[in-house]
Amino acid sequence: MKKIIVLSGSIREGRKSHYVAQYIAEVLSQNKTLATTLLDLKEYPLPIMEERMGQANQLPEGLKTFSHILSQAQGIIIVSPEYKNGIPGALKNSLDYLNPQVFKHIPIGIVTVTSGKFGGLHCLSQLRTVGLALGGIPIPEKLCVSTVNEVFDILGALQDDSFNKKTREFTKAFLWYVERLSN
Ligand SMILES: Cc1cc2nc3c(=O)[nH]c(=O)nc-3n(C[C@H](O)[C@H](O)[C@H](O)COP(=O)(O)O)c2cc1C
Repeated sequence: MKKIIVLSGSIREGRKSHYVAQYIAEVLSQNKTLATTLLDLKEYPLPIMEERMGQANQLPEGLKTFSHILSQAQGIIIVSPEYKNGIPGALKNSLDYLNPQVFKHIPIGIVTVTSGKFGGLHCLSQLRTVGLALGGIPIPEKLCVSTVNEVFDILGALQDDSFNKKTREFTKAFLWYVERLSN
């Protein structure tokens, strides 16, 4: 079974991108050839990185588990809101802790989320660059979710049926890379 991690990258109170991450994980879970895990960054409140994993004497609580879960994956989907035209600090901080090449040869699918119209293209581009620095292979396909408050309601129920199709197209493309690169 191929292990897929969906990393939910927003820790904000009232976060909306978590609904997107949950939805994508749910769609992937329907594929019984995969073992899909939703990895919620909010469950790993890491302090500001002062020393990365390989060099620190004492690791912050949860870091070893966080890194271990990611390192076991054959494919990683990162779901991130765009903050200030970029990657949220908490998400970047968590990735900064990881050892170089921890995602070596691992396809990374990137999903960005915004409440406005533009869907987070700045964040997408930055996450691709960061994914390369981690040794991963950011895939060319993308899923940029704009006006997220119209896609999911306040309780996280899907409002926009077209999002199901977009998610299936994106995950299908992502799984193509997982299949090719994990054999
Ligand atoms: C600190 C902060 C900065 C933000 N910056 C941007 C931005 O640069 N571009 C954008 O489209 N939306 C921005 N937003 C709005 C997010 O798109 C919105 O919060 C959306 O729901 C996704 O983030 P969430 O998962 O935290 O809810 C920002 C929100 C916060 C809290």
